[in-house]
Amino acid sequence: MVLKKTWVGLISLAAIIAVGCASGAGTISEESLGLRKTNLYTEKSETIGEATHYGKAAAGSSKVFERAFENAPPMIPHDLEGMLPIKIGSNACTGCHMPEVAPSMKATAIPASHFASFRPTTAMGADGRITKEGKVLNNTSDFKTVVHKLDKLSGARFNCTLCHAPQSTQAPLVGNTFKADFSANGAKSSNLIDTINEGVQ
Ligand code: HEC
Ligand code: HEC
Repeated sequence: MVLKKTWVGLISLAAIIAVGCASGAGTISEESLGLRKTNLYTEKSETIGEATHYGKAAAGSSKVFERAFENAPPMIPHDLEGMLPIKIGSNACTGCHMPEVAPSMKATAIPASHFASFRPTTAMGADGRITKEGKVLNNTSDFKTVVHKLDKLSGARFNCTLCHAPQSTQAPLVGNTFKADFSANGAKSSNLIDTINEGVQ
């Protein structure tokens, strides 16, 4: 039997109500349900979260953050005033972070992974079957990640702020007890290009 969406919705709602009643705790207030701590009909100023506090230290005088986990994209520690938006003809980030200039700017160099393509060479044979890296594959997840080195920054990495974000020092809404399991230097630098197939048979 195919259940329509509305039925699935009603059944789950009934289940929630049933659980709510069975707990015997009486009414659950709307204010306690979510992160917003106001009822669901309020959209006034008290519903809006605290303002974000991004670092105001200029590039060159900020302090880098520890990585969130092994090979996580590092958060941006410095002010981005005047650097955004990134456009095809103006990308301030590359002006300081390209490997050839980074040491003189005391900036972390853009890593080797950003100068590579991880997309397998894909083609369709005369028989209509798709090949990846010259092999016919029935299940593409059986495939190790290929690393094709590029002689320039990958287009997929051009828009830095797609993945790298400034870090706000606002108190978190929910405490975080996650503890990353870092390799030797993993809290401060990445090694993705060398470890990308780790654990893949
Ligand atoms: C004027 C040079 C300069 C520009 C422009 C610049 N950065 Fe930086 N960046 C630095 C320096 C220097 C550091 C090291 C921390 C410091 O000294 O402030 C840094 C640190 C970082 C880090 C942290 C690296 C780590 O190892 O944790 C990231 C991520 C970053 N920048 C991303 C960006 C992005 C994205 C842009 C463009 C929007 C950008 N930067 C523009 C100089 C620059
Ligand atoms: C598609 C997402 C993505 C984009 C776009 C991207 N990065 Fe990254 N970046 C990452 C990830 C993930 C890592 C950590 C793993 C690795 O090294 O690849 C990283 C790592 C870094 C590091 C740390 C290198 C080290 O040795 O520790 C720097 C610096 C950096 N990126 C700068 C940039 C700059 C500047 C741009 C824009 C030109 C950019 N990135 C674009 C995802 C991205």
